[in-house]
Amino acid sequence: MSVRCHRSKLSVWAVLCVLVLCWLYIFPVYRLRNDKEIVDEVLRQGQVWQRNQTDIDLFRKLLSECCDPRRMFAVTKQNSPMGKVLWYDGEFYHSHTVNNETYSLFVQETPLQHPLKKCSVVGNGGVLKHSGCGKDIDQADFVMRCNLPPLSREYVEDVGSRTNLVTANPSIIEKRFQNLLWSRKSFVESMKAYGSSYIYMPAFSMKPGTDPSLRAHYALTDTSSNLTMLFANPEFLRTVGKFWKGRGVHAKRLSTGLFLVSLALGLCEEVTAYGFWPFSVGLDEQPVSHHYYDNVLPFSGFHAMPEEFVQLWQLHKSGTLRMRVGHCPPREGAI
Ligand SMILES: *[C@@H]1O[C@H](CO)[C@@H](O)[C@H](O)[C@H]1NC(C)=O
Ligand SMILES: *[C@@H]1O[C@H](CO)[C@@H](O)[C@H](O)[C@H]1NC(C)=O
Ligand SMILES: *[C@@H]1O[C@H](CO)[C@@H](O)[C@H](O)[C@H]1NC(C)=O
Repeated sequence: MSVRCHRSKLSVWAVLCVLVLCWLYIFPVYRLRNDKEIVDEVLRQGQVWQRNQTDIDLFRKLLSECCDPRRMFAVTKQNSPMGKVLWYDGEFYHSHTVNNETYSLFVQETPLQHPLKKCSVVGNGGVLKHSGCGKDIDQADFVMRCNLPPLSREYVEDVGSRTNLVTANPSIIEKRFQNLLWSRKSFVESMKAYGSSYIYMPAFSMKPGTDPSLRAHYALTDTSSNLTMLFANPEFLRTVGKFWKGRGVHAKRLSTGLFLVSLALGLCEEVTAYGFWPFSVGLDEQPVSHHYYDNVLPFSGFHAMPEEFVQLWQLHKSGTLRMRVGHCPPREGAI
């Protein structure tokens, strides 16, 4: 009797331990400064910013050592030959072995080998509304955007119109384009907003994302679209995730924005980030919508946006990249 009691007590403790461990995994114990403190600090700093070449070079070195963005950011024929096993970075123990069919969809080698000069990375935050940053964003040599954002005329003044690389989450293909199982026309039409840019899809991150990504690729090539599909390399996504985890970002998954900033810091000489502002109140204490085009909140607990912002803000303060929050100053020469 007492033995049985002892045993059941033991298993209760075991269950409790597991629960606590799971809880800590999902909600790690760390103190995050509250939003108000961060906003106040950003206000104090104002638009002051000084580029620090030492820190830029150092950060690029760290990134290339951990993640080799130049060679690894996309799946290519070179880094993923026939028979290579690609392990999904967003799933436990799922893989895809490169076969004839998928191999033929990969680009030969990573484009963008040579260093890019000025890059704009555009997050889709509501702070971009009425920012007047469109011209600033567009004057960079390379413009990166997240998740197929709308670029229609009403937004151009605030977000610009040029795109060189845009990410697309497979879930958008599912929601907005019926998973491309029916007509592909509306997909192909709406992709024209991105000119002849690269479209960057995490095809090998989650199992359900693979087929929609491949279909998007077929839809583009079958219609001789000007866009070039690049599949995100799951190995790169994993190493970048680890890199930021080591620097204190405790998200289960990094946001697309932080991936793009990491990519930009690895590829570009000068990076400016726009529209990264995960707070519901702006610098002018006015409410800010979640995106510049809508106010749909993401599934909470998945990304750690304020935490990511603090990291980016550190890089801003050290002069490694420039964060634009709030309005862009009128362009020089313009009166
Ligand atoms: C750049 O950063 C390094 C180290 O973080 C520092 O030692 C150096 O003084 C900074 N340079 C400038 C010009 O601020
Ligand atoms: C792959 O395709 C090539 C040419 O299309 C063909 O010669 C080869 O037999 C195929 N290999 C397999 C494993 O299907
Ligand atoms: C591709 O670009 C060319 C030249 O810019 C343009 O004339 C053509 O209409 C574009 N094609 C598609 C499918 O968007």
